[in-house]
Amino acid sequence: MKPAHEVTDAKSWRGARSPLDVARIREDFPILKRQVHGKPLVYLDNAATGQKPQVVIDAVNRYYATENSNIHRGIHFLSEIATADYEESRAKVKRFLNASDTGEIIFVRGTTEGINLVAQSYGRRFVKQGDEILISAMEHHSNIVPWQILCEQVGARLRVVPMNHDGELLIEEYERLLNDRTKLVSVAHVSNALGTVNPVKQLVEMAHRRKIPVLLDGAQAAPHMKVDVQELGCDFYAFSGHKLFGPTGIGILYGKSKHLEAMPPYQGGGDMISLVTFEKTHYNILPYKFEAGTPHIAGGVGLGAAVDYLSGIGLEAVTAYEKELLAYATEALCTVQGLRIIGTAKEKAAVLSFVLDGVHPHDIGTVLDQEGVAIRAGHHCAMPVMQRFGVPATARASFAFYNTKEEVDVLVRAVHKVLKVFR
Ligand code: ALA
Repeated sequence: MKPAHEVTDAKSWRGARSPLDVARIREDFPILKRQVHGKPLVYLDNAATGQKPQVVIDAVNRYYATENSNIHRGIHFLSEIATADYEESRAKVKRFLNASDTGEIIFVRGTTEGINLVAQSYGRRFVKQGDEILISAMEHHSNIVPWQILCEQVGARLRVVPMNHDGELLIEEYERLLNDRTKLVSVAHVSNALGTVNPVKQLVEMAHRRKIPVLLDGAQAAPHMKVDVQELGCDFYAFSGHKLFGPTGIGILYGKSKHLEAMPPYQGGGDMISLVTFEKTHYNILPYKFEAGTPHIAGGVGLGAAVDYLSGIGLEAVTAYEKELLAYATEALCTVQGLRIIGTAKEKAAVLSFVLDGVHPHDIGTVLDQEGVAIRAGHHCAMPVMQRFGVPATARASFAFYNTKEEVDVLVRAVHKVLKVFR
């Protein structure tokens, strides 16, 4: 990977110095050169998935072209190098999250599978009839439905921390809802629909005072800010590779060893065992106990490359730059008549959900697409958030470190065009 240099971006907003050489970074992403409907692509759907730098594409290609073989099983050369590459990626993720051991890093398909793993393994072992699981009002469906399934299975109750009209959790309500029946808290680090950055360290501390473990859904946080699981103190942390500029179909569940050791396997199969007889099976050590079957090896290798790439740019610089983009875009969009931003928390990641008087969000998305601008329009897999704000859907622009203020300008011009078409 080429290093990301520290340079001054002369065109930076209000003359601020940008710590990222965005023009050079964009060269790393082949897709950003393409056109859509005859216009340069302006990719603002990063909360749905991130684009892939060439190093990630190369890592996946290299694995298939030169190493393809099964891991942990073969005694031949290819299997050994593929195993080493896959396990090196696990070690990279361990360092990325500052976990204390590679045994705490479980490869899963994505955040959704990570949460389902905890619900079905930890949940079915430790949550009993009458117990409570606490989530928040801004959760993605993947941090709601797995808990509903668990609650139905064991007779537990799902409780929800409400939020205010800016999209901030009500901490006093959270405190009130934590009680002796609460067996697990599971909340988003960053909301995909609103952009709110939750005060997760505080939420973890409050739950831990009552000895309640906490899972953080890091899908929208890990690509945009430094995550240190030991500093946060969380018991579980899940994120998706594809949002972190890696391949789809691969993600991470971090879990504290003490929990993972006490949890039964999530799925049975090859690799997760140490001894099988028809009478009894002995399970493998961590993390393999939770990795049944041949994994997404190329995905794991690609995720390792993505973690290296992002770490090379530097999460602090990414966070600072995206904050600047968010401020610029918020100010610019607020000038559009009849536009309302949904999600106005003080602490926000670079996600801008909005509605326009008299125009359906899908129509906004369609017109923007014609201008080459890719956004998401819909409920963002967070229907309860839409209900809370009294809207059926929103248009959502979500940014990454390779986006520019010039692209924000294109977005704003395209939104003005929407007004011309529909009003
Ligand atoms: N969870 C992804 C999103 O928010 C797909 O768009």
